[in-house]
Amino acid sequence: MHLNYDDPIAWLDHRYTCDVQARNASIEKKFVSFFNPHESVLHITDVGAGTATNVCYYFDKLKHQQEWTLIERYDFLLQAARERLRKLAEQQGYLWDEQSDRVQLIDNNKRATIRFVNGDVEHLEELTDMEQTDVLVANAFYDLISFDQFDALIGKIARHNIAFLSTLNYYETSFYPFQEEDHQVMRWYHMHMKRPQPFGIAMGADCCEEMLDLLTQHHLMIEQESSQWHLKRSNTTMQHYILHFIEIALAELNLTFEEQDLFSQWLKTRKKQLHDRSLEIIVDHNDIFATE
Ligand SMILES: C[S@@+](CC[C@H](N)C(=O)[O-])C[C@H]1O[C@@H](n2cnc3c(N)ncnc32)[C@H](O)[C@@H]1O
Repeated sequence: MHLNYDDPIAWLDHRYTCDVQARNASIEKKFVSFFNPHESVLHITDVGAGTATNVCYYFDKLKHQQEWTLIERYDFLLQAARERLRKLAEQQGYLWDEQSDRVQLIDNNKRATIRFVNGDVEHLEELTDMEQTDVLVANAFYDLISFDQFDALIGKIARHNIAFLSTLNYYETSFYPFQEEDHQVMRWYHMHMKRPQPFGIAMGADCCEEMLDLLTQHHLMIEQESSQWHLKRSNTTMQHYILHFIEIALAELNLTFEEQDLFSQWLKTRKKQLHDRSLEIIVDHNDIFATE
């Protein structure tokens, strides 16, 4: 199988199907019903928006007229987002209107206006209209930012009384059949998520716990449920991706020769199992909905 691991657009495309299956139905219901009484346009800001996954997923599910602001630090992903939405309109028979800074999807009487904003979540207040925003959404995002960045972000949304929805918050990865070395390999993988970066240390696999702590400190009402990927034996594409991500992460750590040896034996076994279709991978996440 040929996978271009260097193409983030392809990766986000592949994970979309798994995310759709994993998104927690009860959290989604709470989010949708919370906004049911909201009669006017729903203003949604999506942080770490990637290729507009959340718009694709929620446009249909929300009954509202929608105004989306997609915040993403890589402009090429926003270009891909625009293209993806154009294709969605074509496939679903939505009307499509395109301007330089925004696009519109129109399905009978329902319309979504989507603005693309290239920038870092640190500057949230300059990138979106906080006064107008009703809900801040994110999918597979908060493991990538630091505790301090999240603290600042929650302070801002609490000040503006903005609801908070975050899906697919990474928690842990397990492999079947079990191997004694799994625990050690995952410890290294999670250490790599917490390597020093220009903005600080990402929350990584601690994001669920740290987010819940901070949301509680800000006195928000919190709902949380699990959203698990179960990558069955047949899902070799996603399994290839997971093993690849672990391999490149561990190559960036200063492992001793002995540790490198343990890891390469582990990887060899896991790749063989993948090839023989005897491997299953579970990736645990949670979904959180929080309001004032
Ligand atoms: C795992 S991807 C998820 C993308 C999209 N939400 C989805 O579900 O397909 C995380 C995204 O967050 C973006 N990102 C990471 N850190 C960011 C930051 N500090 N500010 C804005 N975007 C960021 C990345 O470029 C990437 O597109």
